[in-house]
Amino acid sequence: MKLFMFRISILLALISLFSFSSSGSPRFDTVSDTLKDTMKETVKATVVFVSPFAAANDRCFKCHGQDKYTYTNETIGREIKDIMCSERIIRKKEFYSSNHKSFGCTDCHSEEYTKFPHAGTLRMEQKYICLDCHGGDAKFAKYHFEEIDSEYRKSTHFKMENDGFSCWKCHNPHTYKISVRNATNLKETIEYDNSICLNCHSDYSRFQLLSDKAEIDLIKEHDWLPNQASHFANVRCIECHTKINNNIPVSHQIRPKAEAVRLCNECHSQNSILMASLYKFESKVQRRDGFFNGIILNASYVIGANRNEYLNLISLGIFLVVLIIIGVHIVFRIRNKSKTIKEK
Ligand code: HEC
Ligand code: HEC
Ligand code: HEC
Ligand code: HEC
Ligand code: HEC
Ligand code: HEC
Ligand code: HEC
Repeated sequence: MKLFMFRISILLALISLFSFSSSGSPRFDTVSDTLKDTMKETVKATVVFVSPFAAANDRCFKCHGQDKYTYTNETIGREIKDIMCSERIIRKKEFYSSNHKSFGCTDCHSEEYTKFPHAGTLRMEQKYICLDCHGGDAKFAKYHFEEIDSEYRKSTHFKMENDGFSCWKCHNPHTYKISVRNATNLKETIEYDNSICLNCHSDYSRFQLLSDKAEIDLIKEHDWLPNQASHFANVRCIECHTKINNNIPVSHQIRPKAEAVRLCNECHSQNSILMASLYKFESKVQRRDGFFNGIILNASYVIGANRNEYLNLISLGIFLVVLIIIGVHIVFRIRNKSKTIKEK
């Protein structure tokens, strides 16, 4: 009976030890964070933005807001239904949750577009660039537009400017919204940011507008990376493909492929580059439960970057105890041996 009670208490001690260690584990935090996010999202969803240009914009959304549009053919005096090509569809909901939601369509496009058919010359319309509005504006200083612009000019895509590449190719004028800066759900942000790149890099119809290169098979290009799916869900393309710049939160200098990060320990180590990029905004709030780069734990567990100093100490302790036990054991063996020799 005594032995039984002893075993039970050992078991209980083990269980409480495990539940103690799991309370500091990543999974627990992820669950409660997701819950928090869902609650925040629900609250946000009930506050809907109302644009001062809502009525004026509806003149455009009538045709550009969905797959189908209608117009009256004056010559034959009949209503015609047609399909809006997908590149020219702007979803109302996405537009009104984007950075530029407070604009009217004709702030950036000619007023002439209210007429249909649109005049052919409108296609030659000069478009604004980001710096036209954001350059030298103190209100947007925290975004460092000028520095981003100069990084972009050094990036590998810039050579395609004459073929039509511009900031707008990554920052869709009608849907782009800042996300990593306000990230409450990092996984979603990673997906959002990666979808910006995949827009071209997994859609050859867009890619070929800018380059004569044959289609690049991204899966094959990255087959040196184990658990590709898991990596692509947990890091952004730009983590490996940009040069880190500590002045701006999102580096914009995309380097040629030969200079991309390939070494595992750039991330899987204590001075992980992820702390200077993906986790930059969060790294200001460090956790105090003994994990190195603990902030990463809110979203992922990164082997090598997330070693726990307490666990390190515990394992050192266990190692010492084992050494002591072996030492004691040896001492007793020697004493017993000399005893038996003496008895003989
Ligand atoms: C009656 C439907 C209709 C309305 C209303 C309409 N558009 Fe269009 N728009 C089109 C179609 C169809 C195209 C595809 C190209 C074409 O046929 O000219 C287009 C193309 C465009 C383009 C692409 C450039 C081009 O000339 O091909 C822009 C920009 C544009 N529309 C902006 C607007 C804006 C801004 C408004 C609102 C002020 C608007 N459109 C209202 C049907 C419409
Ligand atoms: C902040 C400025 C801005 C606002 C606001 C804006 N657009 Fe645009 N729009 C642009 C730019 C810039 C382009 C060209 C994008 C590119 O080069 O990839 C464009 C392109 C387009 C195109 C052509 C897409 C294509 O790929 O052919 C259509 C259609 C269009 N806009 C309609 C609209 C409508 C409708 C609205 C209002 C709901 C609107 N835009 C609001 C800046 C704006
Ligand atoms: C026609 C002028 C204009 C152009 C062109 C323009 N922006 Fe803006 N942008 C604004 C204004 C004005 C706001 C503030 C909107 C508001 O507060 O509702 C804004 C907001 C933003 C914000 C969010 C700022 C915040 O604090 O919420 C970002 C990020 C941004 N723009 C990025 C860009 C990028 C990137 C480009 C080019 C691809 C661009 N903008 C082009 C005028 C412009
Ligand atoms: C190759 C794609 C690409 C190009 C080209 C690009 N950007 Fe970005 N940019 C991104 C990505 C990805 C992000 C991160 C978006 C997020 O999650 O907020 C970003 C973020 C930003 C932000 C927000 C940074 C912050 O502090 O939150 C600004 C401002 C910006 N870009 C401006 C520009 C300007 C200006 C240009 C052109 C000179 C440009 N971008 C060209 C991909 C691009
Ligand atoms: C509008 C389309 C488009 C978008 C968006 C885009 N790219 Fe590209 N990218 C291209 C094209 C086209 C090429 C091929 C250029 C050439 O001909 O060498 C390219 C080339 C590259 C290369 C190879 C460069 C070299 O010199 O070896 C890398 C790396 C790259 N892109 C990464 C990215 C990343 C990361 C993003 C997202 C932040 C992104 N791209 C977004 C179109 C795009
Ligand atoms: C873990 C780091 C890492 C991540 C994450 C990553 N890449 Fe790469 N990528 C590389 C390396 C390294 C190469 C060079 C491979 C080679 O030289 O064979 C490369 C090659 C490329 C190329 C060049 C292909 C060519 O032949 O020109 C493109 C384009 C590219 N990546 C796009 C992306 C996109 C888009 C994403 C996000 C979905 C991404 N990468 C995510 C490390 C990464
Ligand atoms: C750009 C940063 C980065 C680079 C470079 C990188 N990793 Fe990772 N790796 C991560 C992150 C973040 C995770 C966390 C995934 C998670 O939370 O499940 C991860 C997870 C892993 C996992 C666990 C996979 C899983 O499904 O949980 C293995 C194994 C791994 N990496 C091996 C490697 C190897 C081998 C290399 C080099 C060839 C490498 N990684 C390069 C960021 C990186």
